[in-house]
Amino acid sequence: MCGIIGYIGHANATDVLIDGLRRLEYRGYDSAGIAVLQHGRLEVRQRVGKLRNLEEALKQEDLVGTAGIGHTRWATHGRPSEDNAHPHRSGNVVIVHNGIIENYLVLKQRLECDGYHFESETDTEVIAHLLARSMAEGRSLPQALLATVQELRGSYAIAGLCGSDPDTLVAARSGCSLVLGQSQDASFLASDVTPLLPYTRNVMFLEDGDIGIVTRHGITAIDREGRPVFRDRVAIDWNAEEAERGGYPHFMLKEIHEQPQAILDTLRGRYRYDEGEADLGDVTIPPDALMNAGQIWIVACGTSWHAGLVGKYLFEELIRKPVQVDIGSEFRYRKAMVRKGDVLLALSQSGETADTLGAMREAKRLGAYVVSVVNVVGSTMARESDGVLYTRCGPEISVASTKAFTGQIIALYLLALHIGRGRNVLSRDKGQWWLDQCLALPGQVEHVIKRDAELLSVAKRFYQKDNFLYLGRGIHYPIALEGALKLKEISYIHAEGYAAGEMKHGPIALIDENMPVVVLAPRDRLYPKTVSNLMEVKTRNAPVIAFTSEGDHDLDALADCVFTIPDTLALLSAIPLTVALQLLAYHIGALRNIDVDRPRNLAKSVTVE
Ligand code: G6P
Repeated sequence: MCGIIGYIGHANATDVLIDGLRRLEYRGYDSAGIAVLQHGRLEVRQRVGKLRNLEEALKQEDLVGTAGIGHTRWATHGRPSEDNAHPHRSGNVVIVHNGIIENYLVLKQRLECDGYHFESETDTEVIAHLLARSMAEGRSLPQALLATVQELRGSYAIAGLCGSDPDTLVAARSGCSLVLGQSQDASFLASDVTPLLPYTRNVMFLEDGDIGIVTRHGITAIDREGRPVFRDRVAIDWNAEEAERGGYPHFMLKEIHEQPQAILDTLRGRYRYDEGEADLGDVTIPPDALMNAGQIWIVACGTSWHAGLVGKYLFEELIRKPVQVDIGSEFRYRKAMVRKGDVLLALSQSGETADTLGAMREAKRLGAYVVSVVNVVGSTMARESDGVLYTRCGPEISVASTKAFTGQIIALYLLALHIGRGRNVLSRDKGQWWLDQCLALPGQVEHVIKRDAELLSVAKRFYQKDNFLYLGRGIHYPIALEGALKLKEISYIHAEGYAAGEMKHGPIALIDENMPVVVLAPRDRLYPKTVSNLMEVKTRNAPVIAFTSEGDHDLDALADCVFTIPDTLALLSAIPLTVALQLLAYHIGALRNIDVDRPRNLAKSVTVE
């Protein structure tokens, strides 16, 4: 998830672009760049790292012009580097891009055959060359962009500028947001409204397939057929801070809502449906290293460790592969019996967590292949591991992890499919069936999110309690752990997650009318056992909040509150269930007036032991 800004007017574009990028930096911050049309020449400047590095560089010169585009990057293809930073250039054309071009390798090979030279490792550079080629064929800038996007597969928001057409910026969108804005004497384009608010509140949101045309005199759009298309003008009344959060009161809520898209992005381009297979060409270790691994180890910390535990249930049940899961700080010192040829999966949102990194290094020293499953491109784990599977969830700002967790589970689903097919444990039909189930998840998560009001009313009933217990069995046991962790992180309520069957061995002593118990009981083969545990709780007068599958009414009479999730396989229901628990925790934290995005004592990235 990158940030895009464009300006055309009478003021100095450099200042407007930098100001805009500052407001977009929350979307990504591993490199930044701008292109400004100065005296008819396109000048491009990029720097790695935070925006201030680019600002410092620009202080050394006088880059002045009245039209330009800018970008703050959150890397997906190609590590953070100056060559990979946007804008990308081809001759007299520059472009910036947010999203993923799935067919970039095919396009790149074709362009190389036609003599185009590539300077970056990105999927984006193909767009610049295609646009330049299309203009060289005699098209106007908007028509050239229209022809270009017809060759692209994937998701994108694109902005472009050409030295030979100094009075126009162009934009295109498919699957990534893009908004145009107009003030008295200037026009703008941006990934979201945040950078536009100091200048205008009169905006127009592009729709998928639109090409935006931005001049000093106004903003217009054409559709896929090149016909003018009318899009409503919207008057925005958010303040700047609200806008950065997309109108949500907290980043955490925004990130919870981004999960359907994050799931799709993690899956995108990583499967071959016809063969019922995962396509993990982007993980660079030899495929048979994964298939023939002696032992699979998973190490992680915090929320990522819970994703690892989900992975254990998944691998063992779906592909009959034994897995050991460890907390990073334990693994690194416990003399684990790792052997050459084992595979270790290091799960981490940040890719910087010291304990997971330490564990990963130790496993590598012992001869294991290390694959990191991380969200931040170019992070230390990504650089030090033998192979990387990026979760592509976009920057996670809120300290409590939400979308990165679901992204990790999706990555594990893909790995399970890859190994299962490779080892012939899963047939082609079973692989396709599995993909169908995975592809249904975004819709199921959307469905849970739409019923958020029900979770808010549960939260209102219990937010003043001091203790919570979360119970689950099988794959829902780690989800109970994660639900409890989320609650304690952002509400400061003491919450424990327990394997439901283990409750009778201790926690049952704590149960009374003041201890709400969250029972995860989707309709799976363990349902009757979990219901027995629910009864044990109810008998001791605890309020019960039950989560079960749609269509189940057996719990209505037993539980104080029932929330249903789409009826799906136990291995997959972990995802919609998690999202429901995230929302419950979020509402309880918000009702208790906690700074949900920055809870006390916690850090987003823990780089110490
Ligand atoms: C910190 C964060 C948690 C996160 C954990 C592991 O404790 O507050 O939300 O789960 O680190 O982080 P990682 O980046 O390795 O997933």
